[in-house]
Amino acid sequence: MLLFKRIADLKKYLQTQKSTGKSIGFAPTMGALHEGHLSLIKRTKEENDCSVCSIFVNPTQFNEASDLEKYPQTPEKDIDLLISVGCDVLFMPNPEEVYPKGQLSDLKLDFGNLDKVMEGEHRPGHFEGVAQVVNRLLEIVEPDRLYMGQKDFQQFTIIQRMLVLTNSNTYLRVCPIVREEHGLAMSSRNVLLSPVLRKRAALIYETLSETKENMHALFPNQLKAIAFEKLNVPHFKPEYFEIIEGQTLMPIEVLEDVDYAVACVAVWVDGVRLIDNIILKKE
Ligand code: PAF
Repeated sequence: MLLFKRIADLKKYLQTQKSTGKSIGFAPTMGALHEGHLSLIKRTKEENDCSVCSIFVNPTQFNEASDLEKYPQTPEKDIDLLISVGCDVLFMPNPEEVYPKGQLSDLKLDFGNLDKVMEGEHRPGHFEGVAQVVNRLLEIVEPDRLYMGQKDFQQFTIIQRMLVLTNSNTYLRVCPIVREEHGLAMSSRNVLLSPVLRKRAALIYETLSETKENMHALFPNQLKAIAFEKLNVPHFKPEYFEIIEGQTLMPIEVLEDVDYAVACVAVWVDGVRLIDNIILKKE
């Protein structure tokens, strides 16, 4: 695996790959890699000649300084894991390399409702930062295909819109959620949980699965209320539980009215913020 820290060196290498007709698949990450990330890299390898992964803890998408400070960083382990799945190129820049002129975004895109609800409502400025960094990374890597996880449902929906708004030639591929043994969606933040709570956090997936089981018997508002109550137990603090249309992210009143429905949730578990989702239907 080749490791690049400088944009100019990475670009030069990728240009030579592209000039020989090689396709580039790109998975952006913030490190602290787990099986979910590795599934993205494996897909980039299956579908492209050259797989590129970036590790960059992007400061502009953290709305709380303390969250950025405690974000896990395990660079040596990440490098070993990437080598183990055969990743071709790792880009690991420092903030000055990515934001040479400071961190203000000159990318002003109108995402309509997409960045106002759920994560957007609870993490002001978060998606502006995500769009800014993904756009910057795409300018640098210019991949044929971009790989993101379904766990961040709202994130990939916004990035998909960004690709359309910027007339990008990159295709987005969304990879399924990878779960721990008891059902908790894999996340870099899971290591911040105590072993006991990490196991108990399977309650989140259990609640999503129950919502799906009951979706024909109850209205979305009733499903939401039941889910919220189930998640409102000691050490857990549900922030939102929404049942939304999968493309517009608008709340759904009657499931039969839509073809694509998703339940999305954010829960604080002992100060660690976890998100997850389940596709209820996609016709
Ligand atoms: O999902 C993430 O890890 C980040 O939001 C991303 C897409 C790498 C941008 O910093």
